[in-house]
Amino acid sequence: MGQEQLDDTTDSHLELHESYYLKCMKTGTFPDEEVPELRSHMTTLYDSCLQLVPRLLTAIALALDQERDFFTLNHQKLQTMSACNTSTMRLNFYPPVPPNTPEKSVRCGTHTDYGTITLLFQDSMGGLQVQDVSGSWVEG
Ligand SMILES: [Fe+2]
Repeated sequence: MGQEQLDDTTDSHLELHESYYLKCMKTGTFPDEEVPELRSHMTTLYDSCLQLVPRLLTAIALALDQERDFFTLNHQKLQTMSACNTSTMRLNFYPPVPPNTPEKSVRCGTHTDYGTITLLFQDSMGGLQVQDVSGSWVEG
């Protein structure tokens, strides 16, 4: 916790979260001994996301008055390399804030995702904010 800094444009501050990146379901490293059910749950979720993303990309293309395959033509590896493509699944955990935490600490620094699309799943605690095109921050 506090080691990753997604926002390096502001004063140095702690980012209070823990992250686990999954880049390849087939060959990726899972903590099978510590969390034996993680691999099967994440693989199931990942497969569901792989089915959803092309549908979303098609819907976005049609909403923008483009051909239905406008985006999916450039994302065909999602299906052909379903277990190992350039997608990243990132699991974030936000543990309780320890006492005496520096005042400028944040949970996750401001950043821009680097992929075509982000599917975000958060629990009922919420907390994520997204900046819209006008620059306003809205609850995610
Ligand atoms: Fe992000």
